[in-house]
Order: sequence, then C-alpha cells, then structure tokens
Amino acid sequence: MRVVLLPGDGIGPEIADAARRALAELAPGTEVAEHLFGGAAIRATGDPLPEETLTACRSAVAVLKGPIGDPEFDAADVRPEQGLLRLRSELGVYANLRPSRAPGIDLVIVRELVGGLYYGERGVREDGTVFDTCEYHPDEVERIARRAFELARSRRGALTSVDKANVLETSRMWRRVVREVAADYPDVAVEDMLVDNAAMQLVSAPEQFDVIVTDNMFGDILSDLAAAVTGGLGLAPSASLGDSGPGLFEPVHGSAPDIAGQEIANPAAMLRSTALLLEHALGRHEEAAALEAAVDQALERSPTPDLGGSATTQEFTDTALTALEVARTL
Ligand code: NAD
Ligand code: IPM
Ligand code: MN
Repeated sequence: MRVVLLPGDGIGPEIADAARRALAELAPGTEVAEHLFGGAAIRATGDPLPEETLTACRSAVAVLKGPIGDPEFDAADVRPEQGLLRLRSELGVYANLRPSRAPGIDLVIVRELVGGLYYGERGVREDGTVFDTCEYHPDEVERIARRAFELARSRRGALTSVDKANVLETSRMWRRVVREVAADYPDVAVEDMLVDNAAMQLVSAPEQFDVIVTDNMFGDILSDLAAAVTGGLGLAPSASLGDSGPGLFEPVHGSAPDIAGQEIANPAAMLRSTALLLEHALGRHEEAAALEAAVDQALERSPTPDLGGSATTQEFTDTALTALEVARTL
C-alpha cells in the first residue's frame, strides 16, 4: 500500500506535513512516498509533472496533493497548473467531488474534471484572436451524470444539474444527456439550473442543494463559492475519482502565495482531503470519520487566522492529532 504525496507549492509543504502526520497515525502500514510536482518540479527538472512522478502516481493506491502554483511562473510558458491538468487527465479522474458543510448546509459539487473548456482546442488565429474551446462528448456527460445520480441516491435524493443551456450548445447536449440518464434513477429528483442563477442561489439559499453536477469550468468557480459560504477556502477538500486506478485527493484552494512561509495556513482542507482518501482509497471508514471529527474539534479549539483565530498550522494540527488520540483511547 503506497500513497504518493505531492506537497506542492506555496503553503503546500506546510499543510502536507499535517497530512503526513494524520496518515502515520491512522494508516501506519501505508507507505507515504513524496515526489516532485508543480513549481518545485519545474525548478528541479523543467517539467511540472516529471515522468518519474507520473509513474509513481499510476502505481500508487492514491495520490494526495497539496496546492500548486507560484507567481514566479505567471508569465512563463511552462506553468505548474499544466502539470495538474495533465495529472488529472492521465489518471482519468473525471469525477471531482467537492463537499461543503456548515450548519443547515450539506452539499456536494460533482465537477466534471477532465473535459470542457480546460481541455478543448485552443490557439491563436492569424489575425491575433486567441481562443479556448468548450468541448464535450455525450459519453463524457453520461459518465459524470451517472456518478452524480448514484451519489444523490445515496444521500437525500436531490440532484441539480448546472449549465448555461440558454446560450451554449455543449450545455444543451449536457441537459439532454442528464435527462436521459435520469430515466434510470426515478428515485432521484432532478432539476436543471442556469449557472448564473446557481451562483446566486448558492449565496442566498445554499441549504436547498444536495448534489450539484456541472462542467469543469462552472464547477471550478462554484466550488470556491460554496467553500466561501461554508466557512472559507481553508476548509474545503476534494476527491477526484475515475472508474479504476488511483484517486487524486486535494484541497479546493490554491497555494496561497500571500500567506506562504508564515506557517499560518489552515490545514483543515488538506486533512479533510486525507479523510476522503482514507474513505475512498483505503476503505477505512472509521479512521476517516475519526479524522473528520478531530478536524472539527481543532476548528473549534485552535482556529487559524483565516477563521479569526491565532493558531499556527502546527498548533491546529497538534490539536487535531491530540483529539484523534483521545478519541482512540476511549
Ligand atoms: P488561493 O486559493 O491560493 O488563495 C485565495 C485566498 O484564500 C488567499 O487569500 C489565500 O491566503 C486564502 N487561502 C487559501 N487557502 C488557504 C488556507 N489553507 N488557509 C488560509 N487561507 C487560505 O487562490 P489564488 O491566490 O487565486 O491562487 C494562487 C495560486 O494557486 C495560483 O497559482 C493558482 O493557479 C493556484 N491554485 C492551485 C490549486 C490546486 O493546486 N488545486 C487550486 C487553486 C489555485
Ligand atoms: C482547482 C484549481 C485548478 C483548476 C487550477 C490550479 C488548474 O483552481 O483545483 O480548483 O482550475 O481546476
Ligand atoms: Mn479552483
């Protein structure tokens, strides 16, 4: 059993440390192998996803990833983000689950992760026009829709499919395919919602949502929004799953260059991503629940500055791990 840990850039290495400690406590038999990725990998090898890292990820039981990205590469031809897009695509992790919870709110955004505007044709025309293209094959929509229906069925049975069908052809096809798949899930209540309205509804009445399924670009934007209305980016984890092979587990947030190096980053999203790994990749349901509970306790007792507290990353992690130990000796 080997988990590949990609610490990443900015606050990545600071919060990766928390994940390493949680895994050592909760899955002591699991080997954790660290590899170069993102900006750190560009500096060392010129490639954000070196072949050696990709090979290690493919043969791992799961990949746990800190955020990548660095202002140093903002204007560069080779960027850390390219490595992330390639890694998601190579692992085929098309279903990105982004849960958000707060009192009265319990929703999951199911974001399509390996298609759409992020992966369509792009380029520069002769006249200087620059273009990115949103492309989806109906099969790509069908598989993400099935995932979302299955998830909704295991939860409160309500699915909201978010698109821009009043404007985009890809969205009209998305809507049609979701309708077709819905026939196989008569127990799930499904509704379509336009993305601009969905953004407004997420801010003003987030408690109405159970499962939201949407494309890559809309899912990226709406998941930051959902994180913000449920306590902030420091809290939001994600799990990216394919049909087989290792899943990819990573926070929703980025490398937070504005606070990197200060040891004040909130490790909750990274720890919750570790809990999702324990759950989905290792099948350790009790350990996952224990880690979730420990993070909740640390959020109460040792909040970091993003939550109005003054705890350091390490103090937060210490509190969470102490809560874990206490719970496990009871
Ligand atoms: P960001 O998510 O890094 O930061 C946005 C704001 O949230 C900042 O004020 C930051 O300090 C705060 N924040 C984020 N995570 C936090 C945490 N754990 N604790 C406390 N505060 C936290 O977004 P950005 O500034 O737009 O992007 C910075 C870099 O991160 C960019 O290079 C971007 O491409 C990259 N990025 C990477 C990922 C990823 O690896 N999955 C995700 C998003 C952004
Ligand atoms: C995320 C990030 C990435 C995305 C970037 C860093 C490529 O914002 O995971 O939400 O847009 O998917
Ligand atoms: Mn994002």
